Amino acid sequence: MSEKEPLGVVGVGWVGLVTAACFAELGHPVIAREIVAEKVEALDRGEVPIHEPGLPELIERNRDRLTFTTELDRLLESARVIFVCVQTPPTHSGDADLSAVMQAVEEIGNGGDRALVMKSTVPVGTGRTIKRQAPGLAYVSCPEFLREGTAVKDFMEPDRVVVGADADDAWAADAVADAYAVLDAPIVRTDVSSAEMIKLASNAFLATKISFINEIANVCDEVGADVTEVARGMGMDDRIGPKFLNAGLGFGGSCFPKDTQALKMLAGNIGYHFQLLSSVIEVNELQKRRVTSKLTKHLGSLEGKRIALLGLAFKPDTDDMREASSLVLASRLEGEGAEVAAYDPVATGVAGALLPNVEMADSALDALEGADAAVLVTDWPEFAELDWAEAAKRMANPLIVDGRNFLDADAVRSAGFAYEGIGRPGVEAEKPAKAS
Ligand code: UGA
Repeated sequence: MSEKEPLGVVGVGWVGLVTAACFAELGHPVIAREIVAEKVEALDRGEVPIHEPGLPELIERNRDRLTFTTELDRLLESARVIFVCVQTPPTHSGDADLSAVMQAVEEIGNGGDRALVMKSTVPVGTGRTIKRQAPGLAYVSCPEFLREGTAVKDFMEPDRVVVGADADDAWAADAVADAYAVLDAPIVRTDVSSAEMIKLASNAFLATKISFINEIANVCDEVGADVTEVARGMGMDDRIGPKFLNAGLGFGGSCFPKDTQALKMLAGNIGYHFQLLSSVIEVNELQKRRVTSKLTKHLGSLEGKRIALLGLAFKPDTDDMREASSLVLASRLEGEGAEVAAYDPVATGVAGALLPNVEMADSALDALEGADAAVLVTDWPEFAELDWAEAAKRMANPLIVDGRNFLDADAVRSAGFAYEGIGRPGVEAEKPAKAS
């Protein structure tokens, strides 16, 4: 058994499970507490409740170092450094709901030489409030920068690890930095409020980059430039960088929409109007709806037309449907009177309950059968490899709107498709010919 310090994890959601499994992989015994007993039982049976590449293997490989339990006392008996990974969903007012965080603080208690390490994304000032309520508990802000679909890699190869603590809690900050030391990543030691802001500002900046390139794409649509070429040229500037410059149907997921809103509200609550962020959010909302005008340009009214959605999850390699662009798009299409079919490699189960009027297909080709148009919503690799000539034959009208600028436009056009990207004119629609 390893001699490394045992670590506690509170909340075995997506962040908690990845954190627990990765620290176990780094050699720490990890005791993870989850209040939902069925989840603990499933994990004990070897079932992993989320779709995250590499995670099941990691959990299996580190079984002897990982304990899942519903009992917090078991965790408190052996771990003094406790990572809190509970959810902070938005409230009706757009602020973050901190009830799960506060319950964890209360349960961990005010003393016992323990450190609470906040992984959950919380408003700036949360650490200060918790320190007032539990002055005997050391507090460290150590925000997560994991992306769904690449979370294990992001944990193991971080660009940086942020460790925010007050001088009084330096021992706890040292313990957290030690837990990550083996990864050899830059450690940003700072104060609690700055650490909290680094997380919110990082997500807000990435969301801004996406909304920015989406607006450039919308202008490209009008002036005949190709946004993928524009992004390529911009991204080579070291000061800009190539990442997060993919124009498309906007950002979704459990983080960017929630965190941009929470930062906007945090500013608003202290009387500051965060104008730029308001625009980022609005651009993103409108972006999900742009597909309908691209469809009507080719099809006229969508009443009675059959539209196939390829991909439903908010991004590839996950079954997460939270704030997925597909939800808004499917509802919009239904609102226009269209009949909507859809296929996603992993999310149709989760999506079925959210989109009861959408016909869920077992394969991309089945979804495309008899369709008047296809919309690529999620850039799953299997769509790049689809037999597009066969797809054209199956459709009533071979038209594709590539909502992620993901496909090889020339290849799908030579397979018989009319192709529309986002901000990619140059592919100005030929009149779609009906495949024979
Ligand atoms: C995001 C951040 O990238 C993580 O660093 C952060 O830890 C996480 O939120 C969080 O706060 O927990 P995630 O939501 O998993 O991670 O996914 P991203 O890969 O960032 O993508 C978010 C959305 O932006 C997706 O809908 C994606 O399709 C969209 N996107 C991304 C674009 O439209 N264009 C791009 O160029 C990049």
